[in-house]
Amino acid sequence: MAEKEFENKVALVTGGSRGIGAAIALRFAGSGAEVFVNHRKGAGSSKAKAEELQERVALMGGRLTAVASDISSRSAVKEMMETIGREAGRLDFLILNAARAPFKPIERLLERELRDLIQVNYMGNIFCVQEALPLLEESAGKIVFISSLGSRFFNPAYPLGSMKAAMEAVVRDLAESLRPRRVTVNAVSGGIVKTDSYKVLRQHMENLDQLPEHLVVEAEEIADVTAFLCSPAARGICGQTIVCDRGMSNALQRF
Ligand SMILES: NC(=O)c1ccc[n+]([C@@H]2O[C@H](COP(=O)([O-])OP(=O)(O)OC[C@H]3O[C@@H](n4cnc5c(N)ncnc54)[C@H](OP(=O)(O)O)[C@@H]3O)[C@@H](O)[C@H]2O)c1
Repeated sequence: MAEKEFENKVALVTGGSRGIGAAIALRFAGSGAEVFVNHRKGAGSSKAKAEELQERVALMGGRLTAVASDISSRSAVKEMMETIGREAGRLDFLILNAARAPFKPIERLLERELRDLIQVNYMGNIFCVQEALPLLEESAGKIVFISSLGSRFFNPAYPLGSMKAAMEAVVRDLAESLRPRRVTVNAVSGGIVKTDSYKVLRQHMENLDQLPEHLVVEAEEIADVTAFLCSPAARGICGQTIVCDRGMSNALQRF
């Protein structure tokens, strides 16, 4: 039997218990990688979803470990990387997928919401990179950040867009500064995907329901681009944000 693409590789998907992160976790596990998924809450539906994913991967004959850890806490991230180092002994792919933000205009953000926005979606991602770096350096690893069109386009209730823009700049900068350490950094910017967060977004974007079905991106499509960026076929791509939106952003007026 031919060896699977990511056999003997280890991946960490932050926010991988549900939505796009879960699709990425399944894609990597299906390609033979040992996968760690991180999620924020160690109880309730978050824990249940992570356990469900674990069972699905076990049925596929793969290995997935769920780690509840809040990426906005540097010590929690450090502990998570120590767990991966201890249990898997290596890390090849760091997929920065976790995100959390209120859907409201920037001018209406409360101070605590603003701090949370930056701590989870900017600092949290950088904590993950910093703490994963020793392991990634050893494996000539890849980092893929999951961005969104909010980094480039206005949405009245999407303060997360400004953090995505900041992180796309971080991706470019890290790609250059980590190149001598053999770590590759890129991003995937997704269009509209019908996950749990979509259900909330549609309450704030009245015309979202008019989006033609053919422009709705499947989580698996984002997962495929993420896997491609981690594959040897993408060896010439460095510091880029690849848009995966079925062409939605090509036209000024869509719906
Ligand atoms: N949905 C879209 O249309 C779309 C489009 C383009 C890009 N994206 C991006 O794709 C990524 C995933 O989106 P999604 O819609 O699948 O999200 P989602 O369904 O809201 O899931 C978010 C995941 O992130 C985790 N998370 C949140 N805060 C965290 C923290 N502080 N520490 C650790 N984990 C945390 C959540 O864990 P808990 O369950 O424990 O809270 C959950 O596993 C995000 O970066 C999002 O911006 C989404």
